[in-house]
Amino acid sequence: MAKIIAGVGSSHVPAIGAALDNGKTEEPYWKRVFSGFEKSKEWMAKTKPDVAIVVYNDHASAFSVEMIPTFALGCAAEFPPADEGWGPRPVPVVKGHPALAAHIAQSVILDEFDLTIVNKMEVDHGLTVPMNLLFGQPKDAWPCPVIPLAVNVVMYPPPTGHRCYMLGKALRRAVESYPEDLKVVIFGTGGLSHQISGPRAGLINSKWDKSFLDNLSKDPKKLTRIPHLEYMREAGAEGIEMVMWLIMRGARDDKGDEVYRFYTVPASNTAVGHIILENARKASGTRKVAGKSKRGSAGKSRQAAARKSIHRIASKGKR
Ligand SMILES: [Fe+2]
Repeated sequence: MAKIIAGVGSSHVPAIGAALDNGKTEEPYWKRVFSGFEKSKEWMAKTKPDVAIVVYNDHASAFSVEMIPTFALGCAAEFPPADEGWGPRPVPVVKGHPALAAHIAQSVILDEFDLTIVNKMEVDHGLTVPMNLLFGQPKDAWPCPVIPLAVNVVMYPPPTGHRCYMLGKALRRAVESYPEDLKVVIFGTGGLSHQISGPRAGLINSKWDKSFLDNLSKDPKKLTRIPHLEYMREAGAEGIEMVMWLIMRGARDDKGDEVYRFYTVPASNTAVGHIILENARKASGTRKVAGKSKRGSAGKSRQAAARKSIHRIASKGKR
């Protein structure tokens, strides 16, 4: 069975990508940022996931005001880097995992989260910058396939933190009903506090950010009750990106180990936050998650039936 073994939270500041692409990582300003990810790269090299699910938001690269999916799952075989105004970033094409992505789409939609299925999509800095921070700068290929999950946090109304957290739980049920043995790491990206425009441009609230990281690790349910207005007031208009970290957190065990954390201010006009949360090894497993579910019995049996049929379809596909 596939397993989500860890969650990674990381800012996805575009200027970090520009610093990498323009060879500025050794400049003192940027060294402060990149040095905070050295241990993370070592952790990732040791962890060697078979697949990464990267939760991020598109910044008007693949989507525009003409079409704004709330949750869009990338099911394609590959995702080229987008041209964000100065040419595509010099990073490898992101290879997908269409079989697992299709399974996740089926499982999550039957679990009553209506994802948009995307079979053609370019990916921007929201996805590629965290990949660089954790996987380095490979020339030809990223070390594992990636399933992008794009979340609308650009146009009102974004999803609530609670919805994101519950989607994370549905993602975990989906992954853990996939019959192939795969180690999956899930990324939640964006934030932390920042405001790009208006009279409060440049706003950073370190106290609030650090409290968010503490709760993400120890008491994520508290975070699910934060309304959008509080994110905007305390963490700036673009701080709403932080709801995406709750998808990552929901996909993890209720308990687990925080193995690394890094926070620095600023990178460009943004606070940079980063956390690695490993699952407690014994605690992972579909049975335990299903046993902990507080859903009603009708919901449980509907999901169980849906999952059984998914399992049958997936098993057939393997023969
Ligand atoms: Fe962003």
